[in-house]
Amino acid sequence: MSMFREITPEQFIVSPFACIGSDWMLITARKGDLVNTMTASWGGLGVMWGKNVASIVVRPSRFTKEFIDAADTFSLSFLPDKYRKQLNYLGAVSGRDEPKIERSGLAVIDVDGTPCFAEASQVLICRKIFAQVYDPDCFLDPAIAACYPQKDYHTFYYGEVIKILKKEE
Ligand SMILES: Cc1cc2nc3c(=O)[nH]c(=O)nc-3n(C[C@H](O)[C@H](O)[C@H](O)COP(=O)(O)O)c2cc1C
Repeated sequence: MSMFREITPEQFIVSPFACIGSDWMLITARKGDLVNTMTASWGGLGVMWGKNVASIVVRPSRFTKEFIDAADTFSLSFLPDKYRKQLNYLGAVSGRDEPKIERSGLAVIDVDGTPCFAEASQVLICRKIFAQVYDPDCFLDPAIAACYPQKDYHTFYYGEVIKILKKEE
């Protein structure tokens, strides 16, 4: 933990389009003694109900969804580009089928009971405050339906950002 320092939301200066959409993130949560993670490139950062929030969307098939649903918190770990291979792996294989965190070689660390990754350059610790399955009746752009040929609609979550960690240089 000493390799990270806590920063304020105002000191967290990133493009959400780059750090989520291009660089990707790991969504990680704990269920009992187990931890699971998955790569994500959809989501957002903003302000809602007067709180700083991160939003994520998770399809029902993801093993990580069971962990997010079981936990009060989850983390978003942003890793440097040299870990792209591991991000691809963690986004292609399910923790149901393989001990993928162990095989990735990445190290889980614990921040106030929430798991995240030692290799991250920045980490958001989030408290789950909202979850809702997307209702296809609400898709105003018909093109959105093409994302769901199997009708496996994402669950949308808001997490209140309760801690932001930055790797010490
Ligand atoms: C670049 C990338 C982005 C992804 N983004 C998401 C996402 O935002 N939501 C989602 O449900 N799955 C997303 N996935 C798919 C999951 O990461 C993938 O299905 C993973 O194997 C799930 O692992 P799990 O079953 O252990 O949870 C993405 C995969 C990749 C490679």
